[in-house]
Amino acid sequence: MSQARYEQQGAIAVITMDNPPVNGLGMELRRGIVEGLQRAKADDAVKAIVITGAGRAFSGGADIREFNTPASFAEPNLHTVIREIEASTKPVVAAVHSVAMGGGLELALGCHYRVAATGAQIALPEVKLGLLPGAGGTQRLPRVVPLEMALNMIVSGAPVKSEKFKGTKLFDEIVEGDVVPAAVAFAQKVVTEGRGLPKVRDLKVDYPNAQGYLQFARNTVRAVARNFPAPAKCVDAVAAAVSMPFEQGLDAERAGFLELVQTPESRALRHSFFGERAAAKIPDVPADTPLRKIESAAVIGAGTMGGGIAMNFANAGIPVRILEVKEDALQKGIATIRRNYENSAKKGRLKPEDVEKRMGLIQPTMSYEDLKDADIVVEAVFEDMSVKEEVFKKLDEVMKPGAILASNTSTLDVNKIAAFTKRPQDVIGTHFFSPANVMRLLEIVRGEKTAKDVLATTMKLASRIKKLGVVSGVCDGFIGNRMIEQYSRQAGYMLEEGASPQQVDRAIEKIGFAMGPFRMADLAGNDVGWYIRKRRYVERPDMKYPKIADKVCELGRFGQKTGAGFYKYAPGKRDAIPDPVIDELIVAHRKALGITPRKLSDDEIVHRLLFALANEGAKILEEGIALRASDIDMIYLSGYGFPLHRGGPMLYADMYGLYNMVNRMKEFAAMAEKTPNGDPGAWTPAPLLLKLASEGKGFND
Ligand code: 3HC
Ligand code: NAI
Repeated sequence: MSQARYEQQGAIAVITMDNPPVNGLGMELRRGIVEGLQRAKADDAVKAIVITGAGRAFSGGADIREFNTPASFAEPNLHTVIREIEASTKPVVAAVHSVAMGGGLELALGCHYRVAATGAQIALPEVKLGLLPGAGGTQRLPRVVPLEMALNMIVSGAPVKSEKFKGTKLFDEIVEGDVVPAAVAFAQKVVTEGRGLPKVRDLKVDYPNAQGYLQFARNTVRAVARNFPAPAKCVDAVAAAVSMPFEQGLDAERAGFLELVQTPESRALRHSFFGERAAAKIPDVPADTPLRKIESAAVIGAGTMGGGIAMNFANAGIPVRILEVKEDALQKGIATIRRNYENSAKKGRLKPEDVEKRMGLIQPTMSYEDLKDADIVVEAVFEDMSVKEEVFKKLDEVMKPGAILASNTSTLDVNKIAAFTKRPQDVIGTHFFSPANVMRLLEIVRGEKTAKDVLATTMKLASRIKKLGVVSGVCDGFIGNRMIEQYSRQAGYMLEEGASPQQVDRAIEKIGFAMGPFRMADLAGNDVGWYIRKRRYVERPDMKYPKIADKVCELGRFGQKTGAGFYKYAPGKRDAIPDPVIDELIVAHRKALGITPRKLSDDEIVHRLLFALANEGAKILEEGIALRASDIDMIYLSGYGFPLHRGGPMLYADMYGLYNMVNRMKEFAAMAEKTPNGDPGAWTPAPLLLKLASEGKGFND
């Protein structure tokens, strides 16, 4: 069946794009539109044509899934479709509702007239995928709206509500309610009044000294979008609209699009777009799984994490009780929450009246009785199994049947925690990241017995509190922290072998990381990792560790909070200052191990860190702890400061080539073999990595 429905309403043919979910302009739909146009042309009874979209969008644009496949170029391509519309001898009216984005808006701009429903979201969001609008958007939009407005839309990709275009030439009418009858009536009027076939391409871009303005825009964009080539190319394409005849401008735009679609940055952004949406899908939990209702929440523990978690609920309008065992801890926790809200209000991010509104939703308590009716309770007490046991036994006793019992543990076994209760099916891990009210990532840990509706409800809740929920199975460290441990181990080994903390940090920050491993450790607190390592030394005596981090901790240098860690810090400042004390400590440690330091290249540093992540990621995938490689990437992009333009550790490995990665790991293993305290075993490739490398595939294929 055609993806473009055709029907006639009097003298008006209505072509309805029907390619759920968002009428992406894939090959089938493009063909359907052209066939509809031909049918209307051949029918003398048809005097004008309306094009609209079925369901939730006019059109979300080109079908992103087709990019870099033959289907995206297959005729009729989007240019051809738009040309056919523009060349139609019968007026074509776009009936725009809900969403007209990217190619969808470009298609509308090719129509002779456009009628929009109030509230429709209008955008050229290609830049968010590392692209520029490639079907005339950069040439036509500046011809119908003021140049600054067009450029802003193209460079930011941000949606603008249809009513904001009142007074521009983008829409001929903006109507309330159902847009299709309005567009049909409008088309009828065009016919009756003989209003002709105006084309956007024939309009002029109206702006005095446009080139000066565009040069200014180019400089600004280059400064803010350092890692992405698309925004500057967007400006170039708009500049072509100003300086070139229309067809030549179209060619310039097309060349820019074809260049950008091949870039690793665009691949990474598209990976992130689909990866975020894929994360919500759990193969054995159908999308229509009935959800438990969440209208109230509770948090146990008002410390670093508990306070932030409670804020998330309040921010989403969900009333939340927060419980502590000690009055002073409760007071301190509530005061911190208030201070956070007040700071947001001072910075203008929150209305002053909302501070009280949100504080009003957070009720402190020291009695479990007050929590018993909550729909979900999140435990955020000390990371100690016996404390978790005490809390979960109590929760089992008091909470109403059907309440979700969640733990924010970062390392403990969620199955064991569930077994403290008589309702393990209601227990789940919700691993927030610090600061919990800010960080977007939420690892949702599915226990062996977690019920499907508990998982589905928690995933839904994640998006309600504006988090990116990603499912993890149970293992030590879950997905993110289990991988980061391997990364930190390599960082430590590199200090032993000859690098300085600042060299390691600089190398990885140069490729776009927000913070290198040592600056990060100083920020998070070196004692956190030390505590975990001490446990590991007992539980996993087979696992080797570099020892400089322990020595730093033995000096009481826990990082920023103690004014010194791998770096030193001036009082009240966060700037990491290299410290000769650490240099001496490292030199002495190398000497004790019998290591002659060597010079490590930035390339070695970067690849040892990233391949340590990706190899552990491969094991996690193989064990089924992560559902898909893109889930791992989404965790790293949203929770670990991995640079967006690199797409995450698994995509990085894919782009490097898994075959090449395996070879590189062999070199690292050989080097570790020769190094005292080296750990060649760290470079044993995961079986999945070897398999995919031998098949010439990637993790994300
Ligand atoms: N192509 C293919 N699939 C698309 C798509 C597109 N352009 N836009 C959305 N989808 C898919 C999503 O992947 C998702 O699929 P799933 O259900 O299998 O996970 C589904 O449509 C629904 O998407 P959302 O979950 O995002 O739904 P929302 O209702 O929240 O948002 C939207 C709808 C505003 C259209 C949003 O999806 C969006 O912003 N889409 C991207 C739009 C875009 O970037 N368009 C430009 C494309 S590039 C282009 O047009 C090139 C041209 O210039 C040549
Ligand atoms: P914290 O020490 O700042 O806060 C813990 C709070 O729990 C304290 O206020 C304490 O008084 C309270 N508490 C202790 N026992 C209690 C009990 N029986 N009943 C009620 N309250 C009790 O600890 P933090 O950092 O907030 O960690 C909490 C949990 O979150 C831990 O499981 C930790 O592993 C996890 N986590 C911590 C992250 C971090 O960066 N700090 C990140 C992600 C998870």
